[in-house]
Amino acid sequence: MQAEEYNRRGKELVDYITQYLGSIRERRVIPDVKPGYMRGLLPDAAPTDPEDWDNIFTDIEKVIMPGVVHWQSPHMHAYYPSLTSWPSMLGDMLADAINCVGFTWASSPACTELEMNVMDWLCKALGLPSFFLHHHPDSRGGGILQSTVSESTLVALLAARKDKILQLRAELEQEVDDSVLNSRLVAYASDQAHSSVEKAGLISLVKIRFLPTDEQLSLRGDTLKKAIQEDRRRGLVPFMLCSTLGTTGVCAFDKLSELGPVCEEEGLWHHVDAAYAGSAYFCPELRWSLEGIEFAHSFVFNPSKWMMVHFDCTAFWVKDKYKLQQTFSVDPVYLRHENSQAATDFMHWQIPLSRRFRSLKLWFVMRSFGLKNLQAHIRHGIEMAKLLESHIRSDPNFEVPAQRHLGLVVFCLKGGNALTQELLRRLTCSGTMYLIPAEIYNKRIIRFTVTSQFTTADDILKDWTIISNTASTLLAETQADQPKSAEDEVIGVEENRDLNIRSVENGDAATSLDQSEVELWIDKAWNRPRKPMRSLSCNSAPVHYTYIGPLSGYDFQSKPNLRDAAGSLPMPTGSGPMFKITEIPSNILGKQVVKKLTKFYSVPSFCNQWVQCGRHQLCCSVKVSQTAQKNLASTCRRINCMNSPVDNTAPSPPPLETAAAPKLL
Ligand SMILES: Cc1ncc(COP(=O)(O)O)c(C=O)c1O
Repeated sequence: MQAEEYNRRGKELVDYITQYLGSIRERRVIPDVKPGYMRGLLPDAAPTDPEDWDNIFTDIEKVIMPGVVHWQSPHMHAYYPSLTSWPSMLGDMLADAINCVGFTWASSPACTELEMNVMDWLCKALGLPSFFLHHHPDSRGGGILQSTVSESTLVALLAARKDKILQLRAELEQEVDDSVLNSRLVAYASDQAHSSVEKAGLISLVKIRFLPTDEQLSLRGDTLKKAIQEDRRRGLVPFMLCSTLGTTGVCAFDKLSELGPVCEEEGLWHHVDAAYAGSAYFCPELRWSLEGIEFAHSFVFNPSKWMMVHFDCTAFWVKDKYKLQQTFSVDPVYLRHENSQAATDFMHWQIPLSRRFRSLKLWFVMRSFGLKNLQAHIRHGIEMAKLLESHIRSDPNFEVPAQRHLGLVVFCLKGGNALTQELLRRLTCSGTMYLIPAEIYNKRIIRFTVTSQFTTADDILKDWTIISNTASTLLAETQADQPKSAEDEVIGVEENRDLNIRSVENGDAATSLDQSEVELWIDKAWNRPRKPMRSLSCNSAPVHYTYIGPLSGYDFQSKPNLRDAAGSLPMPTGSGPMFKITEIPSNILGKQVVKKLTKFYSVPSFCNQWVQCGRHQLCCSVKVSQTAQKNLASTCRRINCMNSPVDNTAPSPPPLETAAAPKLL
């Protein structure tokens, strides 16, 4: 393709995009395809000769669009928004053309400098503390654009971990391997926190303890305080809290004003995840949940959700940039430049080296909308959610089981879990709107998020009419068949089938094949064993305190001083960390104790892997010596696969109590 053709085709594509987004309401939100649908639509291998652009262009509607979920549709209500906008797309068009890789200031000064300035704009516009600003006389902090909240939470955890390990090393005044210190660390989040917090713990091999929330599904200061005290008694070292403003399940808010002071008293890094809710802070009247933010060490939110800056764009601020730099700095000669001392090199603030020019789209959006219109957009979304809520509340068949916050309304049928589950199944089959399930402990709920900036009161009414009519039909069928107890809790397989057959007989839009496919994922989401999986936050029940007995008695062999000092587990009376550092004696704890530990701290069971990876055990693909394999397999079974229903193909280990556990350190 030559420049002239690019120019012409580019305009055609812009026309296509304008038409696509302008008429998106008319498209079925959920595609009607099955896994592998594309295989037959594409040749087996890439073309040897160049293809005509017209052919490529035609394939957008033929190959791509049939398999697209239309996230920009006003009838998309699943997850949280993932919005785009005209200025945002223009920003990336330019960034794609420049295509610089802004790892250091010198690799493209405009990339770094625009990001620093726009992050400061955003910080001020959201009412965040000035210690997050790059350009402020008293600030040691600053903001950076990362790819996702998950990555930012991991970055915060790694920085907090590094900081605590350095602190412990300084206090210990003797050589202790970082891995020993790492094994003593424990971080906290609420039982409503996003699965990305758990993932950060998984990656960093740090224990995360998920704490119970109050009746508003908020984490409270007393709960955190108690957990910290318990863990110190166990010989652990609490080092971080990840609190959430706007949880994924029901958009609940942890109580920062209580949690922040506890973190400060106890020396914990306080990371705040406001992935969705962060955009709401453009509006001063919505900042009530930020009370206590002055205690935060880092804060993250996704402009790529509600702020109409398309994916990927995650705004992450830290109070002390040196804590990031001490975690991520590497200094190869080929990345040095003459302004290294004076300039900010964002490669020291993140995991990857390379970085896109993301700030352009953020800059275009903030300038093109202005703060006034960004506020209006947020307020409009909330109004639309309130409208839906009022419809739901006025229908006696429905219940709103948790307070509505921002643009998320959750609801269920009063008739019980089975009916709510079937309602969602029917709505999903129709393809007219996209909703997803969640749970508030044992109650199944449906989440309805207002996403699009173009959602109108008519759109909401249309969705509500479909929801309420579908529910009425379902309830009429159920009543006609047999009077059901309102207390039915878990739908049986047979019962599921009955409901499916009835809805097919009654001429639902979906075919019976669709019905069974849909049944699969909804049932999987809801009927999956709950412990210790924690996806979509609300699925996990709170873990209760279980005293597992003292962890003393482990022989550190080469570190006798450390072992001597680490002795007593009842609240340490000394001031140094020497009292808290002990090795987990996993080989002498015994099965029951390890089981309790596994539940108590989030050690994953990898339930999903056997679905996604063709039922291979996680540990089996690792190529190691036979002895090591045996040890590894036994460790994996003990730590990771305890609740896995997958048949165990690894060599069977000796009973846990007598097994010689592999030396992990
Ligand atoms: C509260 C919360 N945290 C984290 C995430 C993950 O965000 P990301 O996809 O940017 O990693 C989400 C996603 O919806 C979320 O709701």
